[in-house]
Amino acid sequence: MIGVFDSGFGGLVVLREFLQVLPDYDYLYLGDNARIPYGTRSDRVVIRFTEQAVDYLFRQGCRLIVLACHTASARALRRIQQVWLPERYPDLRVLGVLIPTVEEAVARTRSKRIGVIATEGTVISQSFDLELKKLDPEVEVVQQACPLLVPIIESGEQEWEGTGLILRRYLAPFKGVDTLILGCTHYSILKDQIQAILGPGHELICSGQVTAAKLVDYLARHPEMEIQLSRKGTRRYLTTDLTPRFAQLASLFMGHPLSSELVEL
Ligand code: DGL
Repeated sequence: MIGVFDSGFGGLVVLREFLQVLPDYDYLYLGDNARIPYGTRSDRVVIRFTEQAVDYLFRQGCRLIVLACHTASARALRRIQQVWLPERYPDLRVLGVLIPTVEEAVARTRSKRIGVIATEGTVISQSFDLELKKLDPEVEVVQQACPLLVPIIESGEQEWEGTGLILRRYLAPFKGVDTLILGCTHYSILKDQIQAILGPGHELICSGQVTAAKLVDYLARHPEMEIQLSRKGTRRYLTTDLTPRFAQLASLFMGHPLSSELVEL
């Protein structure tokens, strides 16, 4: 199976894109809803939670896992790939959303001025800044943490007039950039509002679509992994907490209702 992990429901927007381009594979989604948000936590905790989740997905039979969570990709992925995986599961792979998104942004920008909106944890990690500058040392990166957006979206308040005011404030530093990375799973839900505020001269990069295209490419370049992935078109959704709001939020991110299984990591 291909495992897809997020701190909560938001990663369903990434899985949704995978299903568009690679529908035949079997997917196991895990949302750590009991411990969301990751975006306000320390490195140590994000790394520990992410390792537990990845370990759980491997024990369920996943061979390849994508961290759909930007905070986990920014703060835990490098350590998992370089230290944890070689010790624990040397033949298995964990990928993230950050590198595909950064590559796309560098390919698209004309002005070499790239904006990033993300959780506090992702901004503090400087991962976007570092990776963007690794690809092109000339790019200027403007980052803005948007801590209010995840709670707004999780409360279903995206149409509330206050959301527009908050977005305007968060987006004020980006007038001079031509490319804005939506560096958090949840933000693609607000894509149209963000585009309307910034105007047509700004390209928005959503990690879901970009990572899906890179996954197609990855599987083509890694037949030794591709051959291990089963292709019966099944999807299972696991969560570490099942609240009455689950169905509503899952529908918001996935586009249709789904049933999920409660698990303990
Ligand atoms: N999934 C997280 C991300 O993409 C957002 C929610 C959280 O803070 O855990 O950064």
